Amino acid sequence: MGIRFNEVTHEYASYSKITYKAIQNISLNISEHEEFIALVGHTGSGKSTLAKHMNALIFPTSGTVEIFGNIITKKRNKKIKYNSIRKNVGLVFQFPEYQLFEDTVEKDVMFGPMNFKVPKEKAKELALDSLKLVGLDETYLNRNPFNLSGGEKKRVSIAGILALDPEILVLDEPTSGLDPEGKTTLMKLFTDIHKKTNKTIIIITHDMDLVYQYFNRVIVLKDGELSFEGTPEKLFKSNILKNNHLDLPNTVKTLKHIKETLNLDVDIYQKTAEDVINELNRVTKNE
Ligand SMILES: Nc1ncnc2c1ncn2[C@@H]1O[C@H](COP(=O)(O)OP(=O)(O)OP(=O)(O)O)[C@@H](O)[C@H]1O
Ligand SMILES: [Mg+2]
Repeated sequence: MGIRFNEVTHEYASYSKITYKAIQNISLNISEHEEFIALVGHTGSGKSTLAKHMNALIFPTSGTVEIFGNIITKKRNKKIKYNSIRKNVGLVFQFPEYQLFEDTVEKDVMFGPMNFKVPKEKAKELALDSLKLVGLDETYLNRNPFNLSGGEKKRVSIAGILALDPEILVLDEPTSGLDPEGKTTLMKLFTDIHKKTNKTIIIITHDMDLVYQYFNRVIVLKDGELSFEGTPEKLFKSNILKNNHLDLPNTVKTLKHIKETLNLDVDIYQKTAEDVINELNRVTKNE
């Protein structure tokens, strides 16, 4: 079942009655299991808007979004349990400030489970487990989420969604603003969750290195429209990057430069720094 977009357009209304089409005519299928998807595109291309449709946080202006069999249209439908959709598809917001609202970290992370009738003691356990998963220990429990650093806030907001144990996870720029170690730790956590549970995970990112290293499917938006979907390999070997205001991963960029300047016969499509070194070793040994 999963999530199915059928010709979805979303127009934001404003007080001046001028509307703005943030996404246009998007048709897309996302399976319930097994997918590890990167959603990329230039600033303002509609990524966050698309993500907010994945758990019915906002409704399409036209078209339909089918989420675990519920058909979401422009109009609210009394028969649809929107709350349970939001439990099935957990969305971590781009800006944690929009997600955090309690006066302690513990209460914030417990809120989701408690909202779904998990007993208080169990919710406390879930909160601490989820915080540990994102790299925060018990010393954070009684801290005020609003006094945390940007990266810590981000981790708390991710823990809040992990505590709900959703079927599908959608994370809007979960690694932005984190230091390199934090980025790797979180990507490893998402990969682990994906491998252990087979859950579909969709991550919005501007980081092409992460896209190449971790994901098996990439969706590109440009000016609110779907401009590419396929494997990262296919994207980076295609010539659509420039038109989409996207860059090559650093590994590929570096090897491309080496190949051109030193005239070496290297395979430039390498995913990690280690792969780059291995490839350079291979080529220079053959020289
Ligand atoms: N609440 C809103 N009201 C009016 N316009 C909006 C609203 N939210 C987003 N937009 C507009 O819709 C377009 C798409 O915005 P969206 O936040 O989905 O982009 P994005 O791809 O997530 O960008 P970024 O990479 O900067 O996060 C933008 O031009 C934005 O200005
Ligand atoms: Mg965004």
